[in-house]
Amino acid sequence: MSIGTPLSTSATRVMLLGAGELGKELVIALQRLGVEVIAVDRYANAPAMQVAHRSHVLPMTDGAALRRVIEQERPHLVVPEIEAIATDTLLEIEREQIAEVIPTARAARLTMDREGIRRLAAETLGLPTSPYAFAESREQVEAAITGGIGYPCVIKPVMSSSGKGQSVVTGPDGIDAAWAHAMKAGRVALPRVIVEGFIRFDYEITQLTVRALGADGQVVTHFCEPIGHIQVEGDYVLSWQPQAMTPAAREAARDIAGRITAALGGRGIFGVELFVRGDQVWFSEVSPRPHDTGMVTLCSQRLSEFELHARAILGLPVEVTQTSPGASAVIYGGLDATGIAFEGLAEALQVPGSDLRLFGKPESFPKRRMGVALATGASVDEAITRAKQVAGRVQPIRP
Ligand SMILES: Nc1ncnc2c1ncn2[C@@H]1O[C@H](COP(=O)(O)OP(=O)(O)OP(=O)(O)O)[C@@H](O)[C@H]1O
Ligand SMILES: [Mg+2]
Repeated sequence: MSIGTPLSTSATRVMLLGAGELGKELVIALQRLGVEVIAVDRYANAPAMQVAHRSHVLPMTDGAALRRVIEQERPHLVVPEIEAIATDTLLEIEREQIAEVIPTARAARLTMDREGIRRLAAETLGLPTSPYAFAESREQVEAAITGGIGYPCVIKPVMSSSGKGQSVVTGPDGIDAAWAHAMKAGRVALPRVIVEGFIRFDYEITQLTVRALGADGQVVTHFCEPIGHIQVEGDYVLSWQPQAMTPAAREAARDIAGRITAALGGRGIFGVELFVRGDQVWFSEVSPRPHDTGMVTLCSQRLSEFELHARAILGLPVEVTQTSPGASAVIYGGLDATGIAFEGLAEALQVPGSDLRLFGKPESFPKRRMGVALATGASVDEAITRAKQVAGRVQPIRP
């Protein structure tokens, strides 16, 4: 694989579908390798657009609009950064060999829908998951619970992310509210949910897994050190690397991650979400792209998850060495406003081993992720304490 000169006829062009904070770091990694980058999202001045060569604003769920921009820009690689994309169009683009879809159009398709990926994991591959059923009405939800899933259980729209529309139901009284909540938040009009048995895990991890070309031109699978994280209302607030695991759980996590990523195929990084109790590991879901909890690798690995993805998709070799225990803590907007400012940065960066990313999102909401605090430490505990301290000192304020 050769890389050309950006903005010339030899350019290697990558189009990012989704231009958020993960895309921004990926664009920077690609820019450093001399790639020409085009960022696409549904709003102007999205984080990755601010560092790309060009950008386009369009609804990526609109297949015709998506095809038009791909035909106009003629990227060599199309790289999804989010789930909500017209994946039928990606399948066509791949089939017609207009561009290569990362990791594959089928992987983008299967993982945008909880049903596709869950059936592949549990039914085709036989991976351990929570017990589950799909339901299209309140009555079907109740039947699924009484028919074996029991309480507590988790109700989620089949198409949603970041915990949207999700509820934990602890008894029959909770079903109505959970169904209504799921119907309000699902990405499509389809009234379909997954009902999952609640797993009482000790901790949950993201197993970053990279499929990249090795010396002989064959795909090699690499496993990063496990990332532990804490979710609040389905949104990650804190992550750290490495998460301590028993040798058996560590091996089971890698086995599950290796199998699901091999089944999805292609090249790139995957965030495999797993629940762990003692030596036991359950598969939850997988993103065929950098993972939000993996932002910790910006300070804890020699190559961040974004640099790993950039290299892997370009057909270059990778190396997953961890350089230090690290942690990341999310910085929320805290207020509704456009063009906000951040104070307390000098105090925040007084913390030893600290670093900061401010994403540059044009509009802030109380629960919108606007930045992330990073910190290394002699131990994971020290890194976590420092990252929280950094995040706590950053104050979003009205302009
Ligand atoms: N079956 C379950 N048992 C116990 N906890 C669960 C279960 N399903 C989800 N959770 C909790 O809710 C979190 C969010 O769930 P999940 O990853 O399925 O949602 P999501 O909307 O895809 O979130 P994201 O897009 O942020 O990954 C999990 O990380 C876990 O903490
Ligand atoms: Mg998840």
